[in-house]
Amino acid sequence: MVMALVIAACSSDSSSSDDGEDASASEGNDSEEAAGSDGDGGTVEIFSWWTGAGEEDGLLALIDLFEQKHPDITVDNAAVAGGAGTNAKAVLATRMQGDDPPSTFQVHGGAELNEGWVAADKMEPLNDFYEEQGWMDKFPQDLIDLVSKDGNIYSVPVNVHRGNVVFYNKQVFEENGVEVPTSYDEFIEVADTLQDAGVTPLALGDKEAWTATQIFENILLGELGAEDYRNLWNGDIAFDDERVVAAAEKFKTVLGYVNEDHASRNWQDAAQLVGDGEAAMINMGDWAKGYFSNDLNLETNVDFGYFAYPETDGDFMVITDTFGLPKGVENPEDVKEFLSVLGSQEGQDAFNPLKGSIPARVDADTSKYDEYGQDAMEDFNNSNLTPSLAHGSAAAEGFVTKANQAVNIFVTQLDVENFINTLKNAANEL
Ligand code: GAL
Repeated sequence: MVMALVIAACSSDSSSSDDGEDASASEGNDSEEAAGSDGDGGTVEIFSWWTGAGEEDGLLALIDLFEQKHPDITVDNAAVAGGAGTNAKAVLATRMQGDDPPSTFQVHGGAELNEGWVAADKMEPLNDFYEEQGWMDKFPQDLIDLVSKDGNIYSVPVNVHRGNVVFYNKQVFEENGVEVPTSYDEFIEVADTLQDAGVTPLALGDKEAWTATQIFENILLGELGAEDYRNLWNGDIAFDDERVVAAAEKFKTVLGYVNEDHASRNWQDAAQLVGDGEAAMINMGDWAKGYFSNDLNLETNVDFGYFAYPETDGDFMVITDTFGLPKGVENPEDVKEFLSVLGSQEGQDAFNPLKGSIPARVDADTSKYDEYGQDAMEDFNNSNLTPSLAHGSAAAEGFVTKANQAVNIFVTQLDVENFINTLKNAANEL
């Protein structure tokens, strides 16, 4: 397995965090910026699933910045709606197979990039580009490892999202006299109190199965701990390990606290239940923080609070969105200009405060982030970093698809034995 996230090893230390650069004057070799664009003056097609509420604000800010810097290059924002790339990934696969790649596309660091597009020989290595940009010490080694295979670097991380966060409605907690739970048992007590009071304890919108898979992976992380959670994905821990079975039992219990109409909601619709106070909590990656702030106008630590998924305090489920250079694009120099802005301090600080994520670079201007972002940055530097299954980092696409299908069936049948057997049978895809 390529996954090499190691315990508390993130190198984003403060020693390199205050050199006060900005994108226009910073990147190791800044001559290109100074001389204006070196691009081919063509079109850059940016392929992602960031469209609509809670998703697109960061991307639009980044595109805006790019257009200011490179008025000669046209941007084609080719986003395909659907959380976690549910639809976009299928469109991308068809295009890549037909040798019609977008200029650059959103891809998660880890297996999705390395076991997917790199293994299929569809990506250009970017080692020289990183050197030219002066980036080798600007990204934590853990992230560089996530976008590398066999010593070559294949994409540029724009952010780091955290997947093991529970967001909660502060007023609902207060009105019902409940406190932030610090263990699984307390979480269940809180959920019982809320349910008895007629409040939906946990919002879920699993119209797309990944949202439920995300809950399961966090329970797995809590049961197994960071190291064995990682070992699950390299085959060292079997899916019928008693701790995996215990995680499935807990998953079943937790599903007893969700809104009845979960199957007809997407993640935004579910998060809205928390915003409106109809539900108390939601486990969602911190793109939900972008949604709460930008779309619902809710204030961090006033309207909503947050805590690590029960039993995962000290762990950080890493989801990094990255962009690379596919083989065979017509104007690679233009694409590199876009990647250069996306990987710059200025680009990352334009994108991430809106997206809810933290910058992938080690030298962010922390004043641009609210308390949530600042807490997340600190946690990233002090936590066990673990790869997300639901977001493609932990395992290859074939396994993720089967796991999502298994979760989808489990959510309605709640049959632990069948669920475990299905996961076990899917393990040959790892
Ligand atoms: C994740 C992605 C995030 C966010 C989320 C919801 O896979 O990494 O940036 O877009 O899906 O769609």
